[in-house]
Amino acid sequence: MPQTDVLIIGSGLAALSAAYHLRHKQITMITKSSWKKSNSMLAQGGIAAAIHKRDSWKNHFADTLVAGCYHNNEKNVEYLVQDGPSEILDWCERGMSFDCDKNGQFLLGKEGAHSHHRIIHAGGDATGKELTQFLYQSTKSSINIIENELVVDLIIKNGQCLGVCTKNQQGEIEYYLASKTIIASGGCGAVYGHTSNADVITGDGIAMAYRAGAEIADMEFIQFHPTMLHINGKCVGLISEAVRGEGAILINEAGKAFMNDLHHQGDLAPRDVVSRAIFDEMKKGHKIYLDISMISNFSTRFPTISTLCLQHGVSIASGRIPVAPGMHFLMGGILTNDKGETSIPNLFAVGEAACTGVHGANRLASNSLLEGLVFGKRIAEHILTLPFTNENCLTANIQNHKLMSGNVDKLPSKKDIQEIMTTCVGIQRTKAELVYAVKWFEDYKNQVSFWDFNVKDFTIEQIEIINMLTIGWIISTAALRRTESRGGHYRLDFPERNDISWRQKQVILTKSEMHVEV
Ligand code: SIN
Repeated sequence: MPQTDVLIIGSGLAALSAAYHLRHKQITMITKSSWKKSNSMLAQGGIAAAIHKRDSWKNHFADTLVAGCYHNNEKNVEYLVQDGPSEILDWCERGMSFDCDKNGQFLLGKEGAHSHHRIIHAGGDATGKELTQFLYQSTKSSINIIENELVVDLIIKNGQCLGVCTKNQQGEIEYYLASKTIIASGGCGAVYGHTSNADVITGDGIAMAYRAGAEIADMEFIQFHPTMLHINGKCVGLISEAVRGEGAILINEAGKAFMNDLHHQGDLAPRDVVSRAIFDEMKKGHKIYLDISMISNFSTRFPTISTLCLQHGVSIASGRIPVAPGMHFLMGGILTNDKGETSIPNLFAVGEAACTGVHGANRLASNSLLEGLVFGKRIAEHILTLPFTNENCLTANIQNHKLMSGNVDKLPSKKDIQEIMTTCVGIQRTKAELVYAVKWFEDYKNQVSFWDFNVKDFTIEQIEIINMLTIGWIISTAALRRTESRGGHYRLDFPERNDISWRQKQVILTKSEMHVEV
């Protein structure tokens, strides 16, 4: 049975940042597809950091809290925004290059709900790809990377995490033992019909942590990105908010702009506000476009988006890009403290899979690549202070782990799950729809026992579906429990709250119970 010091599940920026800082240990990174298939690789806008001399971490802190509707963990937000500038400069020293002007100063973009220009970018609109590739190149020779192998479950013994069980594309099962296991497998975009996420993002890490008994929090907070390229009723890729940062405005088919009437930040209001405004316009039968006619250097500033438009027959020269909102980011996840520790000893989580509380009820634009860098490093530094024991010498009885219950004749398709989530647990929610969704998931739960299933008997696709069922049930249950509208959780039957004067407690779910906690 392979043994390693640290096992990392996932290969995005948070995973690579942790791996880089742990590289003197024995590291195994396991990813279900190619290392290149992550949401980090798709991130366009950039990375937020208060680096300009007229900006400060306090401004960045305040913007993060306002966008997060004060549901944030303020201590962790402080770590995020205070460590941000030095993280960027450290990676520049290691050779990463961001877009600069002819004097070598960072070109700083602006995105929704930021009070200052502070979005550092690379390759125009290819920041995630450039940065993730750079970290991969800096790390790959020091770690063992296993691709195309799905981590199915965590191995838990005496309440501690001892490693993972995987299944590869040939259907072979493997067990890996590790002193420390880090889940960095991203969020769960694929549970929705329209998403900017990579199609591999089916919530596997969060679902397996839930099965293992970890605490899962804030899952009702889903960020819908306002502007995905919308072709023939389908969302086919992201149109970065940085485009609005360069002056683009949202209009309907008659050319009427609508954001200035709704929010003092107009087209650059927080994402939840803009997404709901577009959703309302679309419900009235309008088609929505981004008017980009004022951006003269569009193709140079946004090469990735220009190519995407070209591929889908949208002419940049026409000055209009058809858009609609789509699932973009999960604010909740596996509950962790500031060091990435979960409620299970030796199990850590980082990046979108984790809930550190930095994003509150709605993430501030371009704070997620920053979270990956800052918290990846924080977790690594903490892990390096811990003892690495070799006590994980398990006997053959591990082979029987989880090979017990669950026999299913009929699972829904991924599309069925996406339809329920989009219709009942989407941008606007009602009690009746949420009750319907919870019941829909519970009917499968009763049939399928998707808490404990037989690893051997299911295909990779079926395991992904079981994970999506688990995540769908958790999101809809948490959304039913939160009886207010805040940030990415908007209920038509409850008033909107974005203040600190009255706060509902965090909804935390565990496998054995669901409770509301301080
Ligand atoms: C965007 O470029 O609009 C997305 C960036 C982000 O989600 O932070």
